[in-house]
Amino acid sequence: MEVFEAIRKRRSVRSYMASGIDRAQLERIIEAATWAPSAGNLQPWIFIVVDDKYLMRQLAKAALNQMWIVEASCIIAVCADVERSGRVYGERGRRLYCIQDCAAAIQNMMLAAQSIGLGTCWVGAFYDDEVKSILKLPPNIRPLALVTVGVPREEPPAPARRSLKEVVYRNAFGNPWL
Ligand SMILES: Cc1cc2nc3c(=O)[nH]c(=O)nc-3n(C[C@H](O)[C@H](O)[C@H](O)COP(=O)(O)O)c2cc1C
Repeated sequence: MEVFEAIRKRRSVRSYMASGIDRAQLERIIEAATWAPSAGNLQPWIFIVVDDKYLMRQLAKAALNQMWIVEASCIIAVCADVERSGRVYGERGRRLYCIQDCAAAIQNMMLAAQSIGLGTCWVGAFYDDEVKSILKLPPNIRPLALVTVGVPREEPPAPARRSLKEVVYRNAFGNPWL
């Protein structure tokens, strides 16, 4: 699938078929994540593949009871190794770079999944402490997103986007570009 087509067709999928996905597909999309850019090429990401239904249910509860999450084939918890970035870049590494790096990895992962016919949803609403405890994360590893992956049961309509006119400026904020 062409990149622009994958970008355009990707939707947040919140309903999945019972059929599973195989390891090769999973490897493919996680490998895509690891090809994201990262500050200083530090690659501060950690991916935890959760396919145990009990743990998935625990995570769904920690995600403000978004129980649809359990329907997915698995959840990939994307976490930042905060100190990996902090050691090199100090506060900017801890507060900004490691989060941007992981966000880029997540987007790669979602587009790769889309390109092989799988659905995903980026779940960011959760209690950090609960997710950390369920996944047994050490203190310096911060959970950033629970990405659900599975065979889509729905093709959600595309939510509207703000127009370029509204979000793009020329040379300085406030100057119209279009
Ligand atoms: C940082 C972030 C957090 C999100 N958290 C949730 C979430 O907790 N639950 C959920 O159902 N969708 C979540 N989403 C998905 C958004 O609702 C979705 O991307 C948005 O409505 C646009 O729809 P689309 O992805 O189909 O284009 C999140 C997306 C992002 C980027």
